[in-house]
Amino acid sequence: MKLSVIGVGYLGAVHAATMASVGHDVVAVDSDEGRVAALASGTAPFVEPGFDGLLRQTLDSGRLHFTADYRDVAEAGLHFIAVGTPQRPDSHAADLTHVYAAVGSLLPHIRPGAVVAGKSTVPVGTASDLEGRVVRAGGVLAWNPEFLREGFAVRDTLKPDRIVYGLSADAGRAGVALARLDECYAPMLSSCPRLIMDFATAELIKVAANAFLATKISFINAVSQVCDAAGADVTLLAEAIGLDERIGRRFLRAGVGFGGGCLPKDIRAFRDRAADLGVGEALDFLADVDAVNDSQRTRAVRTVRDLLGGLAGRRIAVLGAAFKPDSDDVRTSPGLLIAAELEAGGASVAVTDPAAGPALEAHGGHAGEFVAGVQDAVVGADAVLLATEWEEYRRLDPAQLAGLVRRRVVFDGRNALDPARWKAAGWTYRGVGRR
Ligand code: UGA
Repeated sequence: MKLSVIGVGYLGAVHAATMASVGHDVVAVDSDEGRVAALASGTAPFVEPGFDGLLRQTLDSGRLHFTADYRDVAEAGLHFIAVGTPQRPDSHAADLTHVYAAVGSLLPHIRPGAVVAGKSTVPVGTASDLEGRVVRAGGVLAWNPEFLREGFAVRDTLKPDRIVYGLSADAGRAGVALARLDECYAPMLSSCPRLIMDFATAELIKVAANAFLATKISFINAVSQVCDAAGADVTLLAEAIGLDERIGRRFLRAGVGFGGGCLPKDIRAFRDRAADLGVGEALDFLADVDAVNDSQRTRAVRTVRDLLGGLAGRRIAVLGAAFKPDSDDVRTSPGLLIAAELEAGGASVAVTDPAAGPALEAHGGHAGEFVAGVQDAVVGADAVLLATEWEEYRRLDPAQLAGLVRRRVVFDGRNALDPARWKAAGWTYRGVGRR
């Protein structure tokens, strides 16, 4: 099948390469010519396990092409919109500029009957607003939200939990889109449920899923604050309540909170859209979810300050700038937000990360001084703060690091270290909601 993918960020690039790997002919378009050139030469512009190999393999197969020219998509019968919908700078709403620009650039080039499938996370109502334009250009619109996680993007795209089609209220158009999407996803449909619905429900499923995950994380983080006050242990508590199948163990890891380019902005955009629809109060609790998340960073800073008797003049090593392991994504990075608060308190901060160095350089103006390795980052430190649970940080040898730091104080912001091991090496250990 001939497909196009508009937007080659994490979502679009992985989707394009994965679709090519299952046998489709894919043209991926982006207006960022630098990114297009990098991908076309087989260089991944981000860190994502398994993506580099898949990219090279699909480029070599001749089934994947990258371009900045929309005319190259004209032969495709199915176009995926996979551009970003960040938070607007002036409000909590999602910025749909890229979605409307992508659709506007695409439509003059589609062939009659082509299907345009939105994958971007959008406020409910966006698809019905876009449908008229797509129909006037001779196409058919569908909404097909994406649920992949960074760090597992290739695996999640090849083996999704579910595939959702939001289809037009017009039966003829819905039928065209259904057949085209089924043809595209045929290799995945044998092993995962396919759910068919209206546009609005499909759009809402995505934001509701992310809001639920964010709520689950903030729930355990709120409980971790009570554990701290009561001298209880949130890791044992999470394990115990998670054994109840109705609750489940996943996304109950207390720590310095959720970050990244999705959860934080999606809960805000969801609330914003609900308010537009006159039901803002129904989602007021998401403001608390956001506030608990912020307070986890502030509490981490306060704990370190109390352990050190103040921050002014202290040197602190922050381990982890990526918002999660196996990624170099530094958007809404808990480690960088904490680094900024530590600096505001007068500390000097060394930030290190196994993968995010180049992304930080491109990002510019971030808090802390980037230091390439843990050993160098912790030299002379008064405290070490773990912000991202990279495997190599879990395995750090506390006895070896003890010889490099000025004071053996560690704040484990992901409850990822073994407290007994660190204490045995002479460290003062603090975790999150952990005795
Ligand atoms: C999230 C969703 O999990 C995906 O299903 C969704 O497709 C994606 O957003 C998206 O909207 O595109 P992602 O942002 O890649 O995926 O990362 P998550 O694995 O959800 O983690 C988000 C944050 O929560 C990370 O900072 C992580 O450290 C934190 N987290 C996660 C916790 O603090 N505790 C947990 O128990 C789990």
